[in-house]
Amino acid sequence: MTVRAVITSCGAYLPEEIVTNRDLEKRVDTSDEWIVQRTGIRQRHIAGAHETTSFMAFKAAQDAMMAGGIDPHTIDAVLVCTSTPNHTFPSVAAELQAMLDIPPCAAFDLQAVCSGFVYGLSVADMMIRCGQAKRVLLVGAEKFSSILNWEDRTTCVLFGDGAGAVILDADQGGRGTLEDRGVLFSRLYADGRYKDILYVDGGPATTGSCGHVVMQGREVFKHAVTCMADIVSETLAANKLQPTDIDWLVPHQANIRIIESTAKKLGVPMAQVVVTVDRHGNTSAASIPLALNDAVKSGKIKQGDMLLIEALGAGLTWGAALVRF
Ligand code: ACO
Repeated sequence: MTVRAVITSCGAYLPEEIVTNRDLEKRVDTSDEWIVQRTGIRQRHIAGAHETTSFMAFKAAQDAMMAGGIDPHTIDAVLVCTSTPNHTFPSVAAELQAMLDIPPCAAFDLQAVCSGFVYGLSVADMMIRCGQAKRVLLVGAEKFSSILNWEDRTTCVLFGDGAGAVILDADQGGRGTLEDRGVLFSRLYADGRYKDILYVDGGPATTGSCGHVVMQGREVFKHAVTCMADIVSETLAANKLQPTDIDWLVPHQANIRIIESTAKKLGVPMAQVVVTVDRHGNTSAASIPLALNDAVKSGKIKQGDMLLIEALGAGLTWGAALVRF
């Protein structure tokens, strides 16, 4: 028997305010046409003052717990993937644990920027498989609007706010094959040599403030296309899978051109790719759980489907996971 970490429910929260590309035309020298052509983004949700990262994480977690009929007392680990915590400390995870009335257990934040959720999924899977936890609440939550320079058109049009959550349960009934439900494979990478192509120009140990996003967009784009192509090929090869074995590609939602290029390299038609970037923009660590929730709740992803999840973010960090839903 093989223990597997199975995603048993999903949830999401998106801020009330929707900001369209036309709205942004009034703030910076940009156009709806430029943003749609280069990124596929048409709108994004932007959090209000009360919609903090912890608040959005709480709402997404509540939604997931409601969907799965989960009693908070049965959760024995809380992981929040975020680069925009409410405070330097305590962690969003500790705040969330208190908000949800979850009894004492492991609770921590994990920071891998846009790859955060893939990293979190891999860590949650390891915690479950090595017996450290039986039920993990894994959340990706970001308020990127608070670290954007709203006068920099090269970055402020790209990002949005939101949170997505999943519950992962230990399933003792696995047979150790790719037919099992659960996280079947994950691979994580980072290459800090590229730390300067996407970063935030502040922090507690340098400026004492949180800073703003600075990006060399073209460089990030090139790395994203190459790293995503490589990691999806590596994932298929490592598991002796064909593209036809993948039911859904669930990519990080940064740019439709990066997503299309990865799908093409993988050999998966766009009809089997979950796309929310048009409506959500890039919500960093929240983008994959938001996309997953969208596809599950709209009935696209069904139990038993094979998902390939992948992301790249600042660091650079990147990773992929295979999950039978
Ligand atoms: N509106 C209008 N014009 C703009 C805007 C804007 N919002 N932003 C930049 N421009 C201009 C530039 O100034 C430049 O003008 P110039 O030719 O007169 O100098 C022109 O558009 C082209 O700029 P590039 O940066 O070369 O445009 P590019 O085709 O590379 O597209 C983009 C930019 C969309 C940022 C792209 O490089 C990209 O998506 N990169 C990936 C970045 C990303 O997704 N980062 C998120 C975090 S990492 C991740 O999640 C994968």
